[in-house]
Amino acid sequence: MKRKEFIVGLDVGTTKVSVIVAEAGENGVELISIGNALSRGIKKGAVININDTANSIKKAISEAELTGGINIKAVYAGLSEGYISSISSHGVIAVNGKEIGYRDIEGAVEAAKAIAIPVDREVLHVISTGFTIDGQNGINDPTGMAGVRLEANVQIVTAALGAVQNLIKSCQSAGIEVIGVVFNPVASASAILMEDEKDVGVGIVDIGGGTTDIALYHEGSLCYTSVLPVGGNNFTNDVAIGLRMQTGEAESIKKKYGCALLSMIDPNEEIEITYAGNKPSKYIPRQHLIEILQPRAEELFILVKKEITKSGYYGSLASGVVLTGGVSLMSGIELIAENILELPVRVGAPKHIRGLAKIISNPIYAAGVGLVLYGVNDTLIEKKRLNGSNIFGGMIDKVYNFSSNVKTLINKKFKI
Ligand SMILES: Nc1ncnc2c1ncn2[C@@H]1O[C@H](COP(=O)(O)OP(=O)(O)OP(=O)(O)O)[C@@H](O)[C@H]1O
Ligand SMILES: [Mg+2]
Repeated sequence: MKRKEFIVGLDVGTTKVSVIVAEAGENGVELISIGNALSRGIKKGAVININDTANSIKKAISEAELTGGINIKAVYAGLSEGYISSISSHGVIAVNGKEIGYRDIEGAVEAAKAIAIPVDREVLHVISTGFTIDGQNGINDPTGMAGVRLEANVQIVTAALGAVQNLIKSCQSAGIEVIGVVFNPVASASAILMEDEKDVGVGIVDIGGGTTDIALYHEGSLCYTSVLPVGGNNFTNDVAIGLRMQTGEAESIKKKYGCALLSMIDPNEEIEITYAGNKPSKYIPRQHLIEILQPRAEELFILVKKEITKSGYYGSLASGVVLTGGVSLMSGIELIAENILELPVRVGAPKHIRGLAKIISNPIYAAGVGLVLYGVNDTLIEKKRLNGSNIFGGMIDKVYNFSSNVKTLINKKFKI
């Protein structure tokens, strides 16, 4: 009997660890199980304690194994820590008028990768943003074309070397192999964006517990990335201080009654605040809570706007911005984002995948589902590469590969 192939995405977030398992078959990709655990040992997206992180990973993996009746050995792991950034580069090779083949494309991309990377940085992705043949640019797949000079344009995403290694170590310590380390919004893009949005220009803003990840797309390709060290935990801390309560209490009040816009709520509404222990509950105007949350939301989107403006692509985002991550669940967030960014904004939940409807509709799983889709894509590229066929055609996305350095760090297997 043909062995089934599973792809597993592991999203090690600041607040939760999610394991998402999908089966890739002829009829597309179908989610078959999920496991979640509270995140321990992670601060602002980066591992600060390997043992604690490994334990959280183990818990989430066990849950996914139990619900899916499977045994997980290897994953695509997502990363989003504060020092991830990307740079553009290009490489040129001579093709001397002959038909361009796969080896020429690889040669041009290799030449584009040959730039000085600081010793404390690790290349995560080299993403093709198009090819130029004898001055003619905007070519997605040069296979079979003729020319003298082939130029590859790429976006190189780098992370702090320690952050990549500590994530891999945590997985290994949990008994899990890492097939690839993926920058979270690069993964989320496959789950929440439409191709035409990427073509006309769009930004993903994933607001998680500890970080806000930004990835901008223009002309179908990634053109800019950035990670801001702010997220939902900052909202929670503001509520804890403002309403004088413990962080856990503030977190649940925020989720239950939170809203990013004062004008959206009834000024007479009262909410019940319950405390841990024997302290009696009390009623306060909901307005007091929103007066704390709105300035934080405004500040966050002012920072996001500054970052997008700094990228030079602000004017190129005709499709606006897609919000995802847990904070995108707060009511009013779309409106406040639109007011401040002065761009169209929508909240994006994972799609392009079947099964487990609860997951598909929830933005907190955008990165996890994206990792699975990324994994499916990577597996296809690898198979095509092994067959010696064109890796740029068909449904293959433009993510060229993981860096060879990351590949030496990880053991390449994907069967479970
Ligand atoms: N309904 C809600 N309203 C407001 N905030 C919410 C809601 N649901 C979740 N959040 C917030 O979203 C955050 C968690 O989001 P998410 O699961 O995307 O983060 P993460 O992936 O663990 O962290 P990160 O990506 O920053 O490493 C928490 O701060 C949580 O309070
Ligand atoms: Mg996240």
